[in-house]
Amino acid sequence: MNLKTIISLFLISLGITTSAQEISILRSSLVGNRIAEFIPKGFDKNKTPSLILASEPKSKSKLPSDWPLVPEFTLKNQKASAVLKLSGNISLYGGGEVTGPLLRNGQSIKLWNTDTGAYSVENGKRLYQTHPWVMGVREDGSAFGIIFDSTWKAELITNSNQIIYNSEGALFRVYIIDRKSPQEVIKGLSELTGTIKLPPRWALGYHQCRFSYDSEKRVMEIADKFREKKIPCDVIWMDIDYMRGYRVFTFDSIRFRNPKILNDNLHKKGFRAVYMIDPGVKVDKDYAVYNSGTQNDVWVKQNNGEEYHGKVWPGDCAFPDFTSPKTRNWWGGLYKDFLNTGIDGVWNDMNEPAVNDNDFPEDKRLGTMPYDTPHKGGGNLPQGSHLLYHNAYGRLMVEASYNGILKTNPDKRPFLLTRSNLLGGQRYAATWTGDNYAGWDHLKLSVPMSLTLGLSGQPFNGPDIGGFLGNTDGDLWANWLGFGAFMPFARGHACAGTNDKEPWAYGAEIEKTSRIALERRYRLLPYLYTLFYESSNTGMPVMAPVFFADAKDSQLRAEEQAFLLGENLLVVPAFAKNPILPSGIWEELSLVDGDKQDKYQAKLSIKGGSIIPAGKIIQNAGENSFDPLSLLVCLDKDGKAKGNLYLDEGDGFGFEKQDYALLIFTAVKKDNTVVVKLSDQIGKRNSSQDIKEIVVNLIFEGKTYTGTGTLKDGIKIALK
Ligand code: GLC
Repeated sequence: MNLKTIISLFLISLGITTSAQEISILRSSLVGNRIAEFIPKGFDKNKTPSLILASEPKSKSKLPSDWPLVPEFTLKNQKASAVLKLSGNISLYGGGEVTGPLLRNGQSIKLWNTDTGAYSVENGKRLYQTHPWVMGVREDGSAFGIIFDSTWKAELITNSNQIIYNSEGALFRVYIIDRKSPQEVIKGLSELTGTIKLPPRWALGYHQCRFSYDSEKRVMEIADKFREKKIPCDVIWMDIDYMRGYRVFTFDSIRFRNPKILNDNLHKKGFRAVYMIDPGVKVDKDYAVYNSGTQNDVWVKQNNGEEYHGKVWPGDCAFPDFTSPKTRNWWGGLYKDFLNTGIDGVWNDMNEPAVNDNDFPEDKRLGTMPYDTPHKGGGNLPQGSHLLYHNAYGRLMVEASYNGILKTNPDKRPFLLTRSNLLGGQRYAATWTGDNYAGWDHLKLSVPMSLTLGLSGQPFNGPDIGGFLGNTDGDLWANWLGFGAFMPFARGHACAGTNDKEPWAYGAEIEKTSRIALERRYRLLPYLYTLFYESSNTGMPVMAPVFFADAKDSQLRAEEQAFLLGENLLVVPAFAKNPILPSGIWEELSLVDGDKQDKYQAKLSIKGGSIIPAGKIIQNAGENSFDPLSLLVCLDKDGKAKGNLYLDEGDGFGFEKQDYALLIFTAVKKDNTVVVKLSDQIGKRNSSQDIKEIVVNLIFEGKTYTGTGTLKDGIKIALK
């Protein structure tokens, strides 16, 4: 035996190997419609629990012998990897919250949730969320999707000929969906990981936020300005400024002396109020939340049994161990008194969890808790290290928050926004793309970022419009809002110390442009709400890549300036240079006087064969949009069109008991007459109570024809 062999035998005896050990597949089976599960030999749920799947997959049947993709598992030094070899020309997507292009061929990302201001860490290849998910679209338009069901720290490499997932932990299961189109694959993803819940209608309005709206007075000034200037808006956000010394679940006794009155006043003006809650709880023996947490034994503890403390906004903080069901319950309970002040929604931030360790020597800085910090687990979750649970910390926090919010207000749909999350976490919270920068590169990046999140199971997302860090000028703001107004989550936000970034902050011209952009969004609320309803059922992205219009058209695969809103509306931002657009009939739309002439507005086009429901211009989503209901119609080459409108109370859960209406409208051209009518209704809501009058705008060969009618009688339009 030579020295090399002796050393390698010695290393093997310690569990350290120099080369990767191939791991065979213990079981592969079908667990759904063209969804395969692969379990490697040695997989142990107690080492790699699933926090991604909505439930354990059930119906198992044999995997067809011609199943196209099979993972190869390896283990090296107890770190598991999986590789998928690809053949043919495949366009890759997914990976969740990523910077860089929409088309992910030749990219690599780190999956380790990180507070990444201005996306500068490792060129932004490591952001706040973890989505171990890749979708591939073949040349023929058929597609597949792969879930690596692990939360261990990992790296995801998407090369054109192979997909590599290197984890730093134990073996994991792999799920592969193989279906006829990317849309069907996304549906499969939601069958495994769940969908968003239908949000309250107000959450689809425009949101105004700023880190440094630092008093009740300032908040009301902002709210009043929106109404005075007739710029539509639904929500004002309270960042950490409202808290007493950044203690979560408290209010500053001078600047936010009476949150109940503040929230009531906002409500009276048609606004909702969303407040921030971070996970770090200030270590302070005079602070009820900290004391209650200590009594209930909820804090993350170090290996030596002492509480783990890390610095966040309020200084030293203790962190709830959200892996424990008891802790999640305790956390959920904190929302009761808090929300009873009239708070409408919650914003969970810093939940990677982010820790400020800038005063540590450089090589000791982790930006979060040490990797070997233990987490208790409980219920289905085993005890495990931070290396296992870090990527699920935000996801477990939002589960706890969501359940607490729902328990406090069981008759309202929770609205929760989170910075950190995990694939599948769309079941609990919407998201935004963190601390971006007020620059053109970030403006352009916000389109592929949002699209990629939508292709990774998270349709309810958007950027800080205008850019969070750095100063924003009017040109950048107006360009950003011009298309940001069509993103699923539309919020303007700004960092403390930067210039004012409200729609009126850049002078009269930009104020006018901002109003037009938001009026366009508000006119489209009925369509947007319908898309969210569909998404909550199928997982379909609200904002979709242009290639969704024709997955067989390989030219469209990399388009990342233009995007689709649903299937029927094409949005081309003003910044777009030579976008590659889908073929077929697309007619340009005008929604608001002067929008087509305004250089900042995105160009909107309706697809041939579709009917888009629109409302009138309203100032907030609580106002009546259907006075009248507009139907925007564009016929296909056979002279037909179809479209849906979903409506319900706008909040609450009546829709689960049939108190909703899904109206299906059709249009048919015969000779020179087009008849538009309600052809079907699903759900039991009396829709004629909501809709009295209908105005049809038919765009035909570049000309707009208008007609009016009712749900009962339909609308007839003569083409002259
Ligand atoms: C984080 C958030 C940002 C927020 C700030 C203060 O940086 O990402 O949106 O404004 O904290 O709470």
